[in-house]
Amino acid sequence: MPWYPTAIAALSPAVPHPVTLGGRSLVLVAWEDAWYALEDRCSHAGCAFSEDGAVEDGRLVCDCHGSEFDLRSGAVRRPPARASVETFEVRSIGSGLEVLVP
Ligand code: FES
Repeated sequence: MPWYPTAIAALSPAVPHPVTLGGRSLVLVAWEDAWYALEDRCSHAGCAFSEDGAVEDGRLVCDCHGSEFDLRSGAVRRPPARASVETFEVRSIGSGLEVLVP
């Protein structure tokens, strides 16, 4: 599985930023001095977190119908979603990040 580099210089914390890496649509989120990468598609009805999402207290919130997901694991923290969203490993490299995308 390859690691894909991505720049983070202009990204704000606690905002789901869209990135396309390895042909996958992801969001990058900075929260409490760490970065997280999750798929940019809510498991409930498919809304994009980058368009209809927010970050609150360590959770990725889908504004379409209110589902919430754990930033670290992608697990559902609030329905109506019932399935988790995929997460991706992130590592810091110099002034940027790399994301492991299968
Ligand atoms: S599409 Fe995200 S909560 Fe319904």
